[in-house]
Amino acid sequence: MFRHVYVLSLLVLLAINTVSAVDYAVTNRASETAGGARFTGDIGIDYSKQTLASATDFIWRTFQQTNAADRKDVQTVNLFIDVMDGVAYAIKNEIHVSNNYLGNYSGDVRSEITGVLYHEMTHIWQWNGNGQAPSGLTEGIADFVRLKANYAPSHWVQAGQGDRWDQGYDVTAKFLDYCNDLRNGFVAELNMKMRTGYSAQYFVDLLGKTVDQLWNDYKAKYGQ
Ligand SMILES: *[C@@H]1O[C@H](CO)[C@@H](O)[C@H](O)[C@H]1NC(C)=O
Repeated sequence: MFRHVYVLSLLVLLAINTVSAVDYAVTNRASETAGGARFTGDIGIDYSKQTLASATDFIWRTFQQTNAADRKDVQTVNLFIDVMDGVAYAIKNEIHVSNNYLGNYSGDVRSEITGVLYHEMTHIWQWNGNGQAPSGLTEGIADFVRLKANYAPSHWVQAGQGDRWDQGYDVTAKFLDYCNDLRNGFVAELNMKMRTGYSAQYFVDLLGKTVDQLWNDYKAKYGQ
């Protein structure tokens, strides 16, 4: 009897895992180029897949999405190393990374690409207010995740720097980090609200102040 229950629970667990697991595929379409060869030599497909999986876990935890119903419905994430300029971008369930960026990067390219993958993977999972959220905010949230995962590069702005709260990237990430310190889980709650739409009122709802007031407080805190 005990054994039957045990086997049954194991089967149920297995079934749940099969349903909720995400598949990752990595394709190097630039292997003939210097950057593509560097990807193979210094990063590799196995490490990339592991990083995509750990990024997903980290993002779900950061967004406090404990149930599948809280998350975007994505079954497969495809990573491509492509012949292109720029750094990387995410579209639908795909991440594209530039071979030229990898080839020209001076420094620890594996650690850099790990940070880039955390950022791009956040775009796969985050809500964007049904397309209404400012892109500076969605880019800021992607860099906030990268910051919290400890993959922020040293050239990022210091806390308090920047011209506008929705400037995007590192500027907005550091501001969101300040907001998140005011209310633990703020970014997770903001992302949840952005499932169906976007309003600047969300800052007031969660923190009791307008986003402009928060930005002023933030600048004042760091003497800017
Ligand atoms: C660096 O980037 C340029 C173009 O952006 C490219 O032509 C060149 O091949 C790249 N160098 C390496 C080593 O990848």
